[in-house]
Amino acid sequence: MNKKIMILGASILQLPAIKCAKEMGLEVIAVDMNPNAIGFEEDVTKEIISTIDIPAVVEAAKKHRVDGVMTLASDMPMRTVAAVSKELGLVGIADDTALKATNKACMREALHEYGVPIPKFFKVSNKKEYDEAVKQFSCTFIVKPADNSGSRGIFLVDDLSDKKGISEAYEYSHKYSRNGDVVVEEYMRGPEVSVETLTVDGECHVIQITDKLTTGAPHFVEMGHSQPTHHPKQIADRIAEVAKMANKAVGITNGPSHTEIIVTEEGPKIVELGARLGGDCITTHLVPLSTGVDMVKSCILIALGEKPDIEKKFNKGSAIRYFAQKAGTICKIDGVEDAEAIDGVRQISFVEKVGAQITEIDSSAARLGFIIAQSDNAEAAVHVCEAAMKKITIEIE
Ligand SMILES: Nc1ncnc2c1ncn2[C@@H]1O[C@H](COP(=O)(O)OP(=O)(O)O)[C@@H](O)[C@H]1O
Ligand SMILES: [Mg+2]
Repeated sequence: MNKKIMILGASILQLPAIKCAKEMGLEVIAVDMNPNAIGFEEDVTKEIISTIDIPAVVEAAKKHRVDGVMTLASDMPMRTVAAVSKELGLVGIADDTALKATNKACMREALHEYGVPIPKFFKVSNKKEYDEAVKQFSCTFIVKPADNSGSRGIFLVDDLSDKKGISEAYEYSHKYSRNGDVVVEEYMRGPEVSVETLTVDGECHVIQITDKLTTGAPHFVEMGHSQPTHHPKQIADRIAEVAKMANKAVGITNGPSHTEIIVTEEGPKIVELGARLGGDCITTHLVPLSTGVDMVKSCILIALGEKPDIEKKFNKGSAIRYFAQKAGTICKIDGVEDAEAIDGVRQISFVEKVGAQITEIDSSAARLGFIIAQSDNAEAAVHVCEAAMKKITIEIE
């Protein structure tokens, strides 16, 4: 009989995992609260349940007697993955690990205890605690919700004399916090990278290091990624080491992680770690294009208790770049075919169509589309993306 994998989420984000599992000949139980989720169009068993409704998902997992459970690149279902794997005795992450990987305050505490390099931080539960924490900073700081993602609620404060701005930063961030907690932390300066890892039986393997491009202050939305990192070996080795320490600190013994790091003057320090694959096409597209390693398949195999093939097949460069945009209505998108004809362009996608109302980029979800490229090295792949972008005209009014 075919093995059964439960995949939490059936949106476009999870589609690569659903497709991969089907190609592997597995039976797929897809879970999503949206009955029209795109993943449900595949040959899967549907469970129309919210991926964060832990008791309901556990019950469905028991009913189907699943052999493994996973989520691709979203944060909130991580706690459900932990609960299902515990209840059914499957390979997965512990409850405690899921909490440390989804609550930025618990994460910071775990990293601090383990001696992993991190910025100075304070967890605050109300405005009074916030005002006290703010007094501890003599330079730029970041305010963020303890338990959100996709750059939602991130705010930078760089004028310490601006009392109104400081208050507004709290209000903005607090609005996005599910449990009401907010983290205030020292602003780290330097280039940002992420580390994509797979841990198998307690051994953490770094598969790739990704360079990032963000919008910068105030909201820090990611506008592009490229692989491999441009950092020289000595720094890349330290980045890998810090990411492995972070994996140990939160207790990942089997499964993927995506660790965001800023390379400061004092060395690499952790922004955050997710016990999941990297989103933004990093693990579904960029890693296979730069290394030949199929992280999605590996992840499914790990969840099923089997051994993945994590050997690098080649060394190439890959990149993704998101289109710039402003608030308004999309009137025209032109030149896509010309862009697709450029050597090295692997995919051009638009999340929004002509006629759609879009906003400025204040979170990842607001971005209207992207280009993915592959070339001999990262720099060349970025150039391919940029050349393709120049061919495309997007009119927004
Ligand atoms: N302490 C910090 N110093 C510098 N930049 C930060 C810091 N915290 C967050 N950022 C920037 O904001 C982005 C989003 O913050 P992050 O903590 O990763 O939240 P999210 O869960 O929304 O991705 C990071 O990728 C980084 O660019
Ligand atoms: Mg992040």
